Amino acid sequence: MSSPLPPPPPPSAAPTEMLVQLPQQPQPHGSSTSTRISLLLACLVVVAALQYPMLVSYFQRLSQATVSSSTAAIADSSSGGIDRGKLLAALAGMSRYRAKTSVTWKKKRAEYNKLPASQKLLLGSTINYVSKISAVANAAAMNDVTAQAVLEHGLRYYGISPFELQSYAKIHRNVGDHSQVAQALKHFVRDWSTVGRHERDAIFPQILETLVDMFPAPRSGVRVLVPGAGLGRLSYDLAAAGFDVVANEFSPYMVLAQRYMLSLKSVKPNSLTFHPNLEWWSHHRSTESLLRAVQFPDIVPDAQVLTRLKLVEGDFVTRFLPHEHGAFDVVATLFFIDTARNLVDYLETIAKVLKPGGVWINLGPLLYGTAPLVELSLDEVLTVAAKLGFEFLPADEKWGEDTFATDEGWRGKVRGKLAGYSWDPNMLTRNAYLAQFWVARKVAP
Ligand SMILES: C[S@@+](CC[C@H](N)C(=O)[O-])C[C@H]1O[C@@H](n2cnc3c(N)ncnc32)[C@H](O)[C@@H]1O
Repeated sequence: MSSPLPPPPPPSAAPTEMLVQLPQQPQPHGSSTSTRISLLLACLVVVAALQYPMLVSYFQRLSQATVSSSTAAIADSSSGGIDRGKLLAALAGMSRYRAKTSVTWKKKRAEYNKLPASQKLLLGSTINYVSKISAVANAAAMNDVTAQAVLEHGLRYYGISPFELQSYAKIHRNVGDHSQVAQALKHFVRDWSTVGRHERDAIFPQILETLVDMFPAPRSGVRVLVPGAGLGRLSYDLAAAGFDVVANEFSPYMVLAQRYMLSLKSVKPNSLTFHPNLEWWSHHRSTESLLRAVQFPDIVPDAQVLTRLKLVEGDFVTRFLPHEHGAFDVVATLFFIDTARNLVDYLETIAKVLKPGGVWINLGPLLYGTAPLVELSLDEVLTVAAKLGFEFLPADEKWGEDTFATDEGWRGKVRGKLAGYSWDPNMLTRNAYLAQFWVARKVAP
């Protein structure tokens, strides 16, 4: 199947630190004119060489000023969205995908080379371990095609010139978190591939079917907010069901990947390829599993559906209040509430952005992440939410086992179902959450 993307650069080519290229200047024509120009240039070069240290410091100051002034300007204009500096850092991270992965492969080769000669001979003659490293490096070069496509779309979307990015990346050499780049790209599989369907099928129906039942068609005008939307598949599917959806995401890496994905209106389904396992060498039955290629997107975003879907960048807690107070009919949290630094902020924000009578629907684990201020158990989450004005509705038993079967207060209102997250069933590991599902109505103002 044809791909709209350019072929990957040959894997043997030395990866560059910064892959963004500046446009080439046109060459002057005409021999006598060109001789005069050459002489002039030569003089300028001599002068420039003498002045080099001053010029360097001048251009450094100039580019620092350019980057910081544009950073401030766009941070202001985004009114609570993603700061321009963070966006540039994520773009720089995308641009360095290949360079960063090549560091890993080089290290793997170096480690292998530490083996005694006899053992290298053994591995060489039996499993050809070196060629496995090369195969993974080649597949990473294929992945880089996707990273560069995400980068190029991001530059176009945000009106950032390659020069601005290059200037930024020169000054901020260590920005761009490669693990976040890899995680964001891996989400193409969870959200937008047929392979990820087993994962979506375990968690999406609870939310989609429940909301479709609660809000009969036509659903236009029924506003749903999906905070922590990741790569946006749940938001898209809700919009496809007729809801007016606002997806919210604060990771620039996820935002870039989601924006790229939703821009793919003219590709054929399953015409792009991504190798999601390259950076995770554990738990593989065979090298084939390490090199696994996944096709995406399983569907091409529909232009009509996209008119009902808006991505709002920024922190859920600060982005919607006070101007969107009581503005949403539904807040749908999928694998989200445990990402909170302050869970009480999340609960209060959910309560505030909902209209009176609005619905909070949740599915996900309680895997507290980075430096949470408080870590509540499930019954504590529910108790606090009830105090904030939520009434918990009976949850259909088809959505999982009753988490509080023996607790009269919560019986039948919260259900748990095994759900994976970016999990490859072909690998030699089993990792799933008993994701908790509930539907609560905001009864108090
Ligand atoms: C575990 S992921 C789940 C993504 C998606 N809901 C899914 O199920 O695939 C949590 C997401 O929430 C985002 N996130 C975390 N804190 C956030 C915040 N305060 N505001 C908006 N998004 C946030 C993260 O960047 C991440 O994409």
